[in-house]
Amino acid sequence: TVLVVDFGAQYAQLIARRVREARVYSEIVPSTMPVEEILAKNPAAIILSGGPSSVYEEGAPTVDRSLFEAGVPVFGMCYGFQLMAQTLGGTVDNTGAREYGRTPLTVTKPSSTLFEGTPAEQSVWMSHGDACSAAPEGFDVTASTDVVPVAAFENDEKKLYGVQYHPEVMHTTYGQQVLEHFLYRGAGLTPSWTTGNVIEEQIAAIREQVGTKRAICGLSGGVDSAVAAALVQRAIGERLTCVYVDHGLMRKGETEQVEKDFVAATGVQLKVVDAEERFLTALKGVTDPEEKRKIIGREFIRVFEQAQAEIVAEAPDDEPVEFLVQGTLYPDVVESGGGTGAANIKSHHNVGGLPEDLEFKLIEPLRKLFKDEVRMVGQELGLPEEIVHRQPFPGPGLGIRIVGEVTKERLDLLREADAIAREELTAAGLDRDIWQCPVVLLADVRSVGVQGDGRTYGHPIVLRPVTSEDAMTADWSRLPYDVLARISTRITNEVRDVNRVVLDVTSKPPGTIEWE
Ligand code: XMP
Repeated sequence: TVLVVDFGAQYAQLIARRVREARVYSEIVPSTMPVEEILAKNPAAIILSGGPSSVYEEGAPTVDRSLFEAGVPVFGMCYGFQLMAQTLGGTVDNTGAREYGRTPLTVTKPSSTLFEGTPAEQSVWMSHGDACSAAPEGFDVTASTDVVPVAAFENDEKKLYGVQYHPEVMHTTYGQQVLEHFLYRGAGLTPSWTTGNVIEEQIAAIREQVGTKRAICGLSGGVDSAVAAALVQRAIGERLTCVYVDHGLMRKGETEQVEKDFVAATGVQLKVVDAEERFLTALKGVTDPEEKRKIIGREFIRVFEQAQAEIVAEAPDDEPVEFLVQGTLYPDVVESGGGTGAANIKSHHNVGGLPEDLEFKLIEPLRKLFKDEVRMVGQELGLPEEIVHRQPFPGPGLGIRIVGEVTKERLDLLREADAIAREELTAAGLDRDIWQCPVVLLADVRSVGVQGDGRTYGHPIVLRPVTSEDAMTADWSRLPYDVLARISTRITNEVRDVNRVVLDVTSKPPGTIEWE
């Protein structure tokens, strides 16, 4: 394992992903972790990440010198580089000469461990105020820029390396090569980690954990719960039961996809609960978005608990249903403090909010993986493409995409419009370009139109295509006009009561992705 020491500001996750792309397993540890504890994990190498601080700031994170004296290869990046320089006796000046963004780098020792085989002039991504003006003793200076005399240093004997820039970002042209040079040449690691290893490792761990007992898993139709379920099914077979609550707020074909394709691909035992009527009754007359979310969440829990009780009652033997499978991902784990054994079930997670007091032990087979790795695992487990590459869909479903009261009739109408939009986006090959495209029915709005010879008085449909990295911020997608035109023509022609299609051109912030 390569440990990435996190000095803040999101860089560590990206570095960990890049290391795994080099097929070396990596994990993130906080910079507050004592060096003895870091070394006790027996890391094959250590990477010190960038961060927002200056080594001169009071209270800035530091690292004990012993980290560099343990014989473990270390690679410092940006803040990690400066920390390394300062700790080992080099000179870091608060020059006031800032470098930010794409910067030309000159390699001064082309045969070095980090740079061999890369061009003498290359473009790197910088983001710093302080600069290293003298490397520690015993280090070769291997690259510089117009502003910083020491932009990279290397000490092969002690296996210590550092660069002032960010090799992990896309804008650093040879960043991945330099990182791989550190891993393979500097630290002597071999690229052997794959998602296949994860599958085997997890299957063994789950078997051990569950023993002869039973587990349940809530399926939402989303990628994470589907892959988690498929993995646990591989491990314990029919001792896993999946629960799929059909709340009637799903999109067209989604329930069938879970019932048929997912079951066919995995052989999982599935209990589908048809709860449409119950949800629609509970939602009758409700128009307030938060109220809708609360009702859907509450009903979901009740239905899930009932299903759970039935599964317990129907069990063929006395083995207790002791485990709940959750599709928690590594970013959730890191963001919640990287702690051990996350206890709380996130309310926003997968099945749309399970109660906190459920008396289950958790099985979280994806808690070491990033989203793209989860998709790879899904692929290796043979899940259908449509599930593995599904775009995010909110737990409360179409219930929060009807502005106004939710009725069966309106849901059917929205399902048709949504299916047309999805079909055309897929046909145009745009599925991977956009993050998701909510289709919203403004049920309380009517406008005048003309169709055939007659006047119409119908509802507008809103298209909300967005691009995003993580749904925290988003921009509206610049979809080609001809694709928008086809969607608009088809929706107004084919969907009863809809006589207008409008495009949402708001970024997030200020608009959220969903309308409610
Ligand atoms: P907003 O509307 O907050 O959405 O910009 C951000 C992302 O979260 C999804 N979303 C949800 N997912 N349960 C979920 O599992 C929910 O209640 C929920 N509400 C919003 C939304 O689709 C977008 O991807």
